[in-house]
Amino acid sequence: MLFSQATYIERRRQLRDLVGDGIILLFGNNNSPMNYPNNGYKFRQDSSFLYFTGQHREGLTLAIDCNSGKEILFGDEVSIDDIVWYGKVKSAAEMAEESGIAELRPYGRLADLVAEAKGRTIHYLPPYRHENMIEIMNLLGIKPEEQKAHSSVTLIKAIVKLRSIKSEEEIAELERAAAIGYKMHTTAMKLATLPGMTEAYISGVIEGIACSLGSNISFGNIVTMHGEIMHGCPSPVVLEPGRLLLVDAGAETFEHYCSDNTRTMPISGKFTQKQRDIVQIVADCHDLALTFAKPGLRWYDTHMAVCRLMTERLKDLGLMKGNTDDAVAAGAHAMFMPHGLGHMMGMDVHDMEGLGQNYVGYDDTIQPSSQFGLASLRFARKLEVGHVITDEPGIYFIPDLIDDWQRNGTNADFICFDKVNEYRDFGGVRIEDDVLITPDGCRFLGEDRIPYHPADVEEFIAKSKE
Ligand code: GLY
Ligand code: MN
Repeated sequence: MLFSQATYIERRRQLRDLVGDGIILLFGNNNSPMNYPNNGYKFRQDSSFLYFTGQHREGLTLAIDCNSGKEILFGDEVSIDDIVWYGKVKSAAEMAEESGIAELRPYGRLADLVAEAKGRTIHYLPPYRHENMIEIMNLLGIKPEEQKAHSSVTLIKAIVKLRSIKSEEEIAELERAAAIGYKMHTTAMKLATLPGMTEAYISGVIEGIACSLGSNISFGNIVTMHGEIMHGCPSPVVLEPGRLLLVDAGAETFEHYCSDNTRTMPISGKFTQKQRDIVQIVADCHDLALTFAKPGLRWYDTHMAVCRLMTERLKDLGLMKGNTDDAVAAGAHAMFMPHGLGHMMGMDVHDMEGLGQNYVGYDDTIQPSSQFGLASLRFARKLEVGHVITDEPGIYFIPDLIDDWQRNGTNADFICFDKVNEYRDFGGVRIEDDVLITPDGCRFLGEDRIPYHPADVEEFIAKSKE
């Protein structure tokens, strides 16, 4: 376990108090077969189950009775077969004891607990693994397609409240993920300018860095010359000097605390003036968020401040026109940045997204927008000390989107389409770091900064060749 037994006991006590009534069932994950049952994907524990138990094994469910305070871990003991194939692992009884859970019962007895609970509220989270959907159907008789609607909003809100505020010890683990992210990104930057290099090679090497340090990647690497594709996959094509390479990748420690960074670098080692102009705008937007965000302000306000600065600077380049506030209110800048400024990050790279984005990023005071661009802002609510949010502005030239808006006259009062069309083959730029909200404001996670200002990127690349 990463943290002390007392930490997990206290987290469960807080959860019981917040939920107040009924029985909470927290389902751990199972092994997922890749192409036949014994050849599985790498095991990944459910983040909420891990948050409240600290245990990584498959086939476990935790039941918490909010009224009596009773806690039961359901899980089968390791068999002699398990020991023959996988070695002598921690027993289920040892796990329960280590986590401070008073009782262990065989997994098959979970159905008895549910049967005995007739008439009481059973709280469960929206499931995302099919094995758990089948389990919920068997236990509660709710069809998979109806399970999300029946999941417990009380439980979701309680868990979001607890997991949103990162403790000192959690921040220390996020810093470990950031240090691995630094190694991944600086390695990518050194490789990008080598002759014959490919996106796939860089992706493989940086994934190897995370794995070789006992960690994993926090999401599928985005390594692409087509930075204008938000989640572009690495391909084995050779990198072309003159173009930009966008690398968006992060590490996830063994305990599932994440990093998420993006850098955009010149494959030639030097930016062209056209590239430098755009990268500098994105870098300035990135820095603005850091000076702006603080407890009590909404992340929405940070997003909007960045959108205004971006619009001003795109006007200076002749790519946009008109009144800045009106352009931003109309969502015109979203042709260049069709996503939000950032998302919460923690034990999931998009932290708790599976519980429902609106519970994580929005609340009674601010509701999601349906406007193109703003609708993709995953986190908007008031910032609190201990929040960790990504700051990831970007400028993209997406030929199909440009054509679509030009054809339909979308925001024609604010977009200079003739000029924009000169950038059709530009690609895209994103810069991303992870921001911790502190009592005085905020700071980037990670002791070492991966270079992102154009001059710093060029200097880093030049030095790496000495
Ligand atoms: N860094 C990938 C994402 O935030 O979606
Ligand atoms: Mn991100």
